[in-house]
Amino acid sequence: CTEHTLTGTLAIAVFTAVLGSLQYGYSLGVINAPQKVIEKHYGRSLEVWTERAAVLSENGTDEGEFPEAGDHPSVIMYWSLSVSIFSIGGMLSSFLVGFVGDLRGRVKGMLMVNVLAVAAGLLMGLCRMWKPHFMVIAGRAVMGFYCGLTSGLVPMYIGEISPKAYRGALGTLHQLAIVTGILISQVIGLDFILGNDDMWPLLLGLSGAPAILQSLLLPLCPESPRYLYILLGKEQEARTKKKKNLLLLCVLPKIRSSVYRQQLVVALMMHFSQQFSGINAIFYYSTDIFTRAGVAQPVYATIGVGVINTIFTLVSVALVDKAGRRTLTLAGLGGMCLCAVAMTVGLKFQSEFLWMSYVSMAAIFLFVSFFEIGPGPIPWFIVAELFSQGPRPAAIALAGCCNWTSNFIIGMTFPYIQEYLGCYVFALFAVLLLGFTVFIYLRVPETKGKSFEEIAGVFRKGRKKANPDDGTELQQLKTSTDA
Ligand code: GLC
Repeated sequence: CTEHTLTGTLAIAVFTAVLGSLQYGYSLGVINAPQKVIEKHYGRSLEVWTERAAVLSENGTDEGEFPEAGDHPSVIMYWSLSVSIFSIGGMLSSFLVGFVGDLRGRVKGMLMVNVLAVAAGLLMGLCRMWKPHFMVIAGRAVMGFYCGLTSGLVPMYIGEISPKAYRGALGTLHQLAIVTGILISQVIGLDFILGNDDMWPLLLGLSGAPAILQSLLLPLCPESPRYLYILLGKEQEARTKKKKNLLLLCVLPKIRSSVYRQQLVVALMMHFSQQFSGINAIFYYSTDIFTRAGVAQPVYATIGVGVINTIFTLVSVALVDKAGRRTLTLAGLGGMCLCAVAMTVGLKFQSEFLWMSYVSMAAIFLFVSFFEIGPGPIPWFIVAELFSQGPRPAAIALAGCCNWTSNFIIGMTFPYIQEYLGCYVFALFAVLLLGFTVFIYLRVPETKGKSFEEIAGVFRKGRKKANPDDGTELQQLKTSTDA
């Protein structure tokens, strides 16, 4: 791709790649709406119903007085596992992104991992053929594993094939596809579409569908020229080394060496700030949060969040190469911090003043909007920008692993934190957001319009100032990696 043009091939390549991101978003969102329906089926297959029927006939009690299937401890356990195993799969596989991306290239890497997505779709789509709870858990685990890989491979490929003038906008398309996937799953998960007793396996199984389309299109996509020229140039050399060395060679020196430490800290903090901003507390628990904020139709409010989310990601696509990554991230995090304060005030006073529930509602919508103009999309592609060719796959793997782990922690702990802090739960996020804003202001350079080499130069200069001997270390690292 030349410096300033958007070609047809580039458009096809980016469209094809982000089908993987669409799948990631769909899998993130799909598990929310049909919770009650699926729990009922788990209950049946676990024979919770038989237990209930026995108690019923003994006592002659009205069924209405018995708890729902979702309150049964086994159902709760299997349901929680179905939700969380997705992140565990992602946490494990995200670390392998560098290995898969470098093994046969980015395009073949994306093609290979699609086997996982199709297998996961089949496990979930056909879950009625055996015990649904086991099939769904297995399907979600495999899908999580697939998404951990795709959430790294896609931004890496797009970053490497994009002309620098459009790298931000094209990089943001990864997030746009994620939020579109979330929105699609929220809409077709409504009970009168697929979120009902008959259709829910199809709803879950469809998460594998984009992989089929992507597999048909990937052979039309060019391999990343950077991968071809820089990595394959060293193919002869690489062949003489054992395969396991690929992983160690990619990851270890990069973590250990102070040469890349500054970039690594920035990359990891960008991902921490994305997740510890509290965004997934909204996505995973929005229905509950809206109910607490006094909203009558929480499911539709949740879809409203999905729509706003998509619109503001589009705004980011338009702005990111003009306003810059740093400015948008700062504006986004700062705005989210203020919204978190407003949410706290709204939740605190809503019992005294009815109109306060509107304050909470508006704050939630604005919180999501600010997230999508910067803190949502930018971390995904800025890691590819911060690192030069050699360490890039390893850095993306580490940052991805950090993202998935933080996502898992928030998903698991938010209900307990909410229980403990009550209406002050978002005050905690406000404090974290303030800290992240200060960090970004002090430590993150602007990468807009710069080549990868120029960006590496910015960090090199920073290091030279802090440590005049740095050049020697960089040289040493180069020599040890090349050896
Ligand atoms: C980002 C986050 C993801 C979140 C989504 C919401 O992609 O990584 O965890 O659910 O944005 O739009």
